[in-house]
Amino acid sequence: MITHTSYAVEPWALRETGLNLDVLPQSESVFALSNGHVGWRGNLDEGEPHGLPGSYLNGVHELHPLPYAEAGYGYPESGQTVINVTNGKIIRLLVNDEPFDLRYGRLISHERVLDLRGGVLRRTVEWASPAGCVVRVRSTRLVSFSQRAIAAVAYEVEAVDSQVRIVIQSELVANEQLPHTAGDPRTAVALESSLDAEEDLADGNRLRLVHLTRKSGLRVAAAADHVVEGPAPTRTSSESGDDVSRLTVTSVLEAGQKLRMEKLVSYGWSSIRSLPAVRDQVDAALAGAFSTGWQGLVDEQRAYLDDFWERADVEVDGDEEIQQAVRFALFHVLQAGARAEQRAIPAKGLTGSGYDGHSFWDTETFVLPLLTYTAPSAVAEALRWRQSTLPAARDRADQLGLKGAAFPWRTIEGSECSAYWPAGAAAFHVNADIADAAIRYVAATGDEGFERECAVELLVETARLWRSLGHHDPHGAFHIDGVTGPDEYSAIADDNAYTNLMARANLLAAADVVERHPHKAAELGADAEESAAWRDAAEAMHVPYNAELGVHEQAAGYTGHQYWDFAAMRPEDYPLMLHFPYFDLYRKQVVKQADLVLAMYKCSEFFTEEHKARNFAYYEPITVRDSSLSACSQAVIAAEVGHLHLAYDYLVEAALMDLEDLESNTRDGLHIASLAGTWMALVAGFGGMRHTGDSLAFTPRLPERFSRLAFTMELLGRRLKVEIKSDAATYTLVSGAPMKISHHGETLTVSGEAPETRHIAHAPSRPAPDQPPGRRPDHREHREDRQHNS
Ligand code: BGC
Repeated sequence: MITHTSYAVEPWALRETGLNLDVLPQSESVFALSNGHVGWRGNLDEGEPHGLPGSYLNGVHELHPLPYAEAGYGYPESGQTVINVTNGKIIRLLVNDEPFDLRYGRLISHERVLDLRGGVLRRTVEWASPAGCVVRVRSTRLVSFSQRAIAAVAYEVEAVDSQVRIVIQSELVANEQLPHTAGDPRTAVALESSLDAEEDLADGNRLRLVHLTRKSGLRVAAAADHVVEGPAPTRTSSESGDDVSRLTVTSVLEAGQKLRMEKLVSYGWSSIRSLPAVRDQVDAALAGAFSTGWQGLVDEQRAYLDDFWERADVEVDGDEEIQQAVRFALFHVLQAGARAEQRAIPAKGLTGSGYDGHSFWDTETFVLPLLTYTAPSAVAEALRWRQSTLPAARDRADQLGLKGAAFPWRTIEGSECSAYWPAGAAAFHVNADIADAAIRYVAATGDEGFERECAVELLVETARLWRSLGHHDPHGAFHIDGVTGPDEYSAIADDNAYTNLMARANLLAAADVVERHPHKAAELGADAEESAAWRDAAEAMHVPYNAELGVHEQAAGYTGHQYWDFAAMRPEDYPLMLHFPYFDLYRKQVVKQADLVLAMYKCSEFFTEEHKARNFAYYEPITVRDSSLSACSQAVIAAEVGHLHLAYDYLVEAALMDLEDLESNTRDGLHIASLAGTWMALVAGFGGMRHTGDSLAFTPRLPERFSRLAFTMELLGRRLKVEIKSDAATYTLVSGAPMKISHHGETLTVSGEAPETRHIAHAPSRPAPDQPPGRRPDHREHREDRQHNS
């Protein structure tokens, strides 16, 4: 766990003012830079010490066999794992004749700042070598949003009080040795030495390495170029071998003199392009960046982010820590998706190798909603990636004896990698989650081209899946049996309410687009008869309900199961899946993560206010939050039913998941969905934003702690700013044509003429629900007391 005091609380930056080697792996994730295509963990410039060296290229993976003690039909045979590609960030330093290594000598000061406005990571170090020679090192690093193949470092070393001989080695390194990872199944299978050398070059200040992955056959190239400035005589030389290409710079600095290096790095990869083509690709990208120059890249980065923050910023008054956390969250979610461009957005983004670099439903359910209203082009790209994987999804459906497409539970390149059926591939809801993201994107942007070219196909193929996976009973009701919902402590259940409601929306939307796009539908072989069958299934969809208790069931019969023995659990028994057998979790009432509660957010209009309150009160005492995806969903419904304090505590948990390493696995990469959940808890929770079809509704209510919450969103060519205070909300149309919105049920038109302000009534008062013993989200006040006393 990282105590939050290690980062100073500032509105636009994350500042670490010392170096704590015990939490180095966590800080490498927190300080990771990425643009969705290239990812560099926040490793120290000199390469060591490190927790986990990490340089990633979205989509670059290696294959490995998935072993089974007992094989079964349709089990995926090949796993995919993200690999650490060529490290272009290494800059080693020799001070007189000693390596600049912070484990030796004396560290006088060390500061790292992630600048959320500038999109750069700055580092300043003052260090005395074991022989007492003092140097000051300043570096600034970026992964460019504007030039997606490019990352860069500006590195400067200064002699502080005496003459010093300096040697800098700027390197490209492939097949870095990786530390062995612990036995946690959520951690990547470390695949070392997965790159075979194809070509290497060192030519003046230019370096290049080209490799091929052994089994997946992907060609990966990295190239670097440098600008060096130092007092005469500063000399350079370069050399290269299979796995290292190096520029060496030597200089003698008098006290106060500096040696500066600007290192531009370009990356490229391909599964089909030839060696000359990939080599030329990285050379060309590098030439482009070189003509922009270091300062040009810094300026472009700032301009890109200025534009993003204007569209996406969330302001929180009265809570500086949450203000910082939500901007940190928005920044990292943007980094995960900004330039992914028809590649997946992994659960950890490109910040670490956790979950093997796989993408899950996290993307469509948590990440894309945020991007839909703030960076919509990234959403279209992510969904086009899903579309590009349809051939694999169709094959998978066919293999399972189903129609349409069955998208994978976890994957890098599109085929199913989940070796575990009950809590993996049986989670068919991912298909409806993809459909939901496509529906929302079209409703928010009106992007007809996307609807025709991409959404129709996604919706039709997923609707086909649902129609073939479910069945009408003799009374006509439609059931989907034997699936796993979001709660992975239940499996192969009948009529999971979340799945059924999401499938229902999927089926209806598919029927609608077939009517709107008859030509496209005809190309896909979808006709009026098929879409009528989808409507029938949707309208007859069964959603289990226990009339005696007056609550919806997570799945048929769920409320009749035995309760988990929560009272017997010790803190160290969590997460339960690492300490108890799945068979026992499956047959008892214990919820890993919001499931029915998430359904009440995503399919809000299906539930009455009374049902929402009753259901929430029922599921809270059995929900243990063993997934980081849960707190944000619980925050949204807690706020809706009036438990504002509880909603706030859940928000804090989602927001500080990585800044405080609450699940002790931030070292493996950030929890991108939980970061996106911070936005969700604020905008959908305290803002009460619900967007369905052509209705945009807000039911704002602030927790005591906030004096003001403001957020901006883009919708159908308009920019809307919502400002919430404790007793009133103000809606301002920043740009675009007038629009209708609803405020606590009242319809109003917002135009550019004047903002609309409306009163906020008090939340209904209801008894606060309990959580399982020991699983109540930490009250903020308790945390602060603890921090104060420590
Ligand atoms: C959760 C899944 C999630 C996955 C990746 C699991 O622990 O239960 O819902 O998709 O983590 O974040």
